[in-house]
Amino acid sequence: MRLPFFPVTRGCRTVVALRQTPFLSPRLKSTALSSRDSHLHEDKSFFITTPIFYVNASPHLGHLYSAVIADCVHRCKLLQGFNSRFATGTDEHGLKIQQAAEAAGKDPVNFCSDVSERFRGLFRSCNISHTDYIRTTEQRHRRAVEHFWVELWNKGLIYKGCYEGWYSTQDESFLMPSQVGDALDSGGKEIKVSLESGHKVEWVKEENYMFRLSAFRSQLLDWLRGNPGVIQPKRFHQAVLLWLQEDLPDLSVSRQRSRLQWGIPVPGDAEQTIYVWLDALVNYLTVAGYPDGHDRWWHAAHHVIGKDILKFHAIYWPAFLLGAGLPLPQVIHVHSHWTVAGKKMSKSLGNVVDPLEHSRMFTTDGMRYFLLRQGVPDSDCDYTVDKVIKLLNAELADSLGGLLNRCTAPALNQAQVYPSFCSQSFPQEHGGRAVSEDYRMLDAVRSLPGVVVKHYESLHVYKALEAIGACVRQTNGFVQRHTPWKLDRRDDGDQRWLDTIMHVSLECLRIYGTLLQPVVPQISSKLLTRIGVQPGERSWGALDFLPRYRGLDCPFEGRPLGSDSGVLFSRLESQDVDGQKQKKTKKCAHLR
Ligand code: MSP
Repeated sequence: MRLPFFPVTRGCRTVVALRQTPFLSPRLKSTALSSRDSHLHEDKSFFITTPIFYVNASPHLGHLYSAVIADCVHRCKLLQGFNSRFATGTDEHGLKIQQAAEAAGKDPVNFCSDVSERFRGLFRSCNISHTDYIRTTEQRHRRAVEHFWVELWNKGLIYKGCYEGWYSTQDESFLMPSQVGDALDSGGKEIKVSLESGHKVEWVKEENYMFRLSAFRSQLLDWLRGNPGVIQPKRFHQAVLLWLQEDLPDLSVSRQRSRLQWGIPVPGDAEQTIYVWLDALVNYLTVAGYPDGHDRWWHAAHHVIGKDILKFHAIYWPAFLLGAGLPLPQVIHVHSHWTVAGKKMSKSLGNVVDPLEHSRMFTTDGMRYFLLRQGVPDSDCDYTVDKVIKLLNAELADSLGGLLNRCTAPALNQAQVYPSFCSQSFPQEHGGRAVSEDYRMLDAVRSLPGVVVKHYESLHVYKALEAIGACVRQTNGFVQRHTPWKLDRRDDGDQRWLDTIMHVSLECLRIYGTLLQPVVPQISSKLLTRIGVQPGERSWGALDFLPRYRGLDCPFEGRPLGSDSGVLFSRLESQDVDGQKQKKTKKCAHLR
């Protein structure tokens, strides 16, 4: 590694006043096109990341939401036959963590390890299937950050200057005067706050290293204009374009060591600590293998982030990457936030939802289903226990569970096998016992995989679940309409029609169970096992619906059903949930 050359320090000026000569090599310009050239890397590699989570407090519902979205896409890609990599982890450096460790009276190393373990435990119990869990305190990450810094330095993109302006420790963010307003703290004292987050800000004046962010404004605009799908949903793309219409001052990328000890020292200058956001963003490269052999994964990078950290990912991060001569992410998927009973989640309001406690109340898959069914990327969503209970009972217990019960009930399926399909009863050209609504259902289920995969990939998971739910209702309607329990089994024609109704319904269930795997892996597995679908028969490639209707063989026909006849998803009762909550409160009281 080439050690950086350090320039002479200049006097203090406010950042807003700093105007640097743009420094762009032709090579940097060409990397801006990288997202458009993605077809060059059609090697079925896929790389998805969540933000890395701050360890200043325990995980909450919003954190689980970020992780569940990314997990859903990762599982979807695996089922499509992609070689998918999925990284999450914890963001452990910075002033906020340093202060939280001090307040807890703990050494920062132990403090971070404890909270990081809590995140890891939550993800384990919620079936988050990450392939890498990164902690920014790891040596591999330090090496990546140092290397990245030196790359920027060697290209003349970092210089020593002076930062004077507002800083929010809670957001670990530098703010322009226009982004700051007046407020009163809890004791009635006048303070300055960030207008966006409401967090307190302080005036900082110190000698720092500065990154030539201002030099990247036009490249960032070109990148966004040339890649209209790179930030999704569209409204966030538009928001970034608007931000870029304004002044883009250079960015302070270090803090004095005397103020911030908990972080990676600037290479070659032990008096300065690298700014936590530069440190944190590089985690995505670290997990891709940077500085060695990261190309394969880095070309396929997709980030899932919450709307509050858009500026860091859509402006700072691409500018750093352009500076280092690295390709830009393929897509930045932005999601909105969860409120609780109409209010922002906050410790002071005491309404922070503990995702572990709630996934115990509603089951892991119940929780995953609710978050993905109700979560809309474009706008904030509201969480209430009543809503969870109503939705899960209606869609998982009654609709999906009810359909499985009907199709596997011994009263209708005595032999407990996947029954035969009779093409005379349900012929391609109408005229059997099926009616036009039944044909419409077949059309809907046949096109369902395409619809669902498209929505999963654009992270509109709620639309995918809406489409599956509509098909489940159609299949329940199909069974209800033909009242198979009223058919006379002694009559051959009736028996064949009964078997056909069951065969078609089981085929529908097989498609629903397969498509639901990324969202509710346990429930899907239970459903597919119950209807006799083996683990090797659950990929997207196996989504061929009702081959017998087209005169082809069906590998499931005549196969015994699985033996587990347990309930797919037990109905939730409010009093049970309340009971569990009380039990937990009692337990906590005992521990206190
Ligand atoms: N450490 C930074 C991210 C660095 S990534 C290089 C950070 N951490 S965080 O713990 O504060 O937030 C992590 C994620 O949780 C963010 O995507 C954030 O948007 C998300 N959420 C935080 N509160 C949320 C809700 N109330 N609802 C949904 N998601 C929310 O930012």
